[in-house]
Amino acid sequence: MAMYMRYLGRLRCGACGLRFRVFSDGKRCFTSKAVTQPDVLMERKLQETCRRKTFAQEQADRLEQAHRSILIKCPQKVNKPQLLKSLAKHGNIAHHHFFGSYETMLLLQFERRDGILSVKQSCSMPRPGKAFPFPARSRVILMTRHNEPTVGKADLPDRRSPENERFQDLLEMLRHHSNINGQLEELVQHMQLTEEDIRLRFLVSSLLQDLCTAILPSIQIQPFGSSVNLFGRVGCDLDMFLDIGSLNFERNSKRVQQDSPLEFQVKMFKSERQATQTILSLVGKLLRHISPSFDSIQEVLKARCPVLRFCHSPSNLNCDLTASNRIALYMSETLKAFAQIDARVRPLVFAIRCWARAQNLTSSVSGTWITNFSLTLLVLFFLQQRSPSVIPTISDLRKHADRRDHRVLDGMNCTIVSDLSKIAPSNNEQSVEDLLHGFFDFYGSFPFQKKSINLRTGQMQRRSDNFPMEIINPFEENLNVSKNVNVRQLVHFVELSQNASWKLEKHHQSSSNQSWGLMTLLQHWSNQQGSVTDGTSLHPRPKAERFNDLYQSLWSEKNGNSEEMQQTRNSSPQTDGDRQVKGQTE
Ligand code: CTP
Ligand code: MG
Repeated sequence: MAMYMRYLGRLRCGACGLRFRVFSDGKRCFTSKAVTQPDVLMERKLQETCRRKTFAQEQADRLEQAHRSILIKCPQKVNKPQLLKSLAKHGNIAHHHFFGSYETMLLLQFERRDGILSVKQSCSMPRPGKAFPFPARSRVILMTRHNEPTVGKADLPDRRSPENERFQDLLEMLRHHSNINGQLEELVQHMQLTEEDIRLRFLVSSLLQDLCTAILPSIQIQPFGSSVNLFGRVGCDLDMFLDIGSLNFERNSKRVQQDSPLEFQVKMFKSERQATQTILSLVGKLLRHISPSFDSIQEVLKARCPVLRFCHSPSNLNCDLTASNRIALYMSETLKAFAQIDARVRPLVFAIRCWARAQNLTSSVSGTWITNFSLTLLVLFFLQQRSPSVIPTISDLRKHADRRDHRVLDGMNCTIVSDLSKIAPSNNEQSVEDLLHGFFDFYGSFPFQKKSINLRTGQMQRRSDNFPMEIINPFEENLNVSKNVNVRQLVHFVELSQNASWKLEKHHQSSSNQSWGLMTLLQHWSNQQGSVTDGTSLHPRPKAERFNDLYQSLWSEKNGNSEEMQQTRNSSPQTDGDRQVKGQTE
């Protein structure tokens, strides 16, 4: 008997960004055509069919791609087709991407690594003049003026819009949607890292690895954090992890005979921490003295998690390099798993992170304010608390793990399932709009003074410390992820959550001449950037009064410390001098 499949329409996968056609038997096939109004709920139900590579496979493939890539700084008016043609003589080009506003940059990936060797062989060293070159041969290559293929003004490179320009574009696009679910989807599409952004991040990681092999030949460096966990926003920092553990691999390898009496003579350190600090400090010196691409180098080695901070100037990426921090890599994998398990997770996390940025709750510098990582955990916990829950607990993810997924680091169990098809889709049918509203209601009245947040169990539990807010680190349960948040910032968060809930209720419908829905949540940002808003204050009560009430209910009951209230009242993310660094607060 003949079987007929009905074509239902086109959707885009929230996790991987690929477009696909949907048929009545639930099957999907991929398409390149754009989708205008994706239905997030329907997408969620179909998502399990597109679960592909594991986190480890994806990282390995991306790194391999990056090792076959180079970065070329070109003059602004370069003739792109001619340049590509001349580069193709060195080997087949697998991928290319031009970017940059002040100068044109080309990210070029060859099919094979010998393409890079060939390009390097064709490069000369700058001639010594007043300055003398350090003769390093990196994969960042400069196109000099005398051999540049040029064109006229019409072919100037695309300008990447800076943050506020991108944001203004977003507000305009949100206006054209007829419901908040559509606005949320637009937000993700507009703010998420593009494929090119991700490639560039892996390339920077690979370039850094090249440099570090000067001191540690078998070192591996890989990105983690928002660059890889599907919550990254254009312009977010690039977190990288220098895997010292991989250097010990040989000790356990079968290739080395266990009973061999030979071992390397090496310098010994008092602790792994001291070894980590020394390695990061050496990398800092390499960057400072050898590479022209990395600048603003800052060593923050006394932090709980020592970190080297710098900027990669060709890509304009702010980078954080840590070592012995494998647990953070496992955390990135876990966050990515949550993003892939249910399609509502990403729009919600993006909305909350953008709302918090717009309201000055978060900042690009560290301090006493809530971090994006903490905010993400708050969203995930809220989704675990729904009835029925939208996402599983970390214990649930552990239950589905098999032997290969098992990993314990310094006694901490970081195991989660890598095959996400084992996780059954949620029975919760709430829309993302409902969940957004629910998030603000939930945290607008959360008993922070009594309860802490535990994502492993998916339960609130009795507080175990005296900090204003306690989010238990899912893998290191003796650590509080939000230990840095002071009372003022917590009160501010709760107050703004209440305010956001109120705004969503009042302005939930499209109106021709006013901001509505998601736009009202991002308004503070647009005010700061000088854009047009409806200008009305949306909260019905005076600010000082509201602050006092919340302060009383959240904190004074517990500690009665009015001095802190006075002191913290005067601080804000942009001005507070009490800057802390990643990990220092735990
Ligand atoms: N991390 C962690 N424990 C912390 C802080 C961070 O495990 N207390 C890990 C998380 O995996 C986090 C990553 O380190 O994603 C990077 O931290 P950070 O840069 O602060 O957060 P991102 O998620 O990258 O967010 P952003 O876009 O603000 O950089
Ligand atoms: Mg980060």
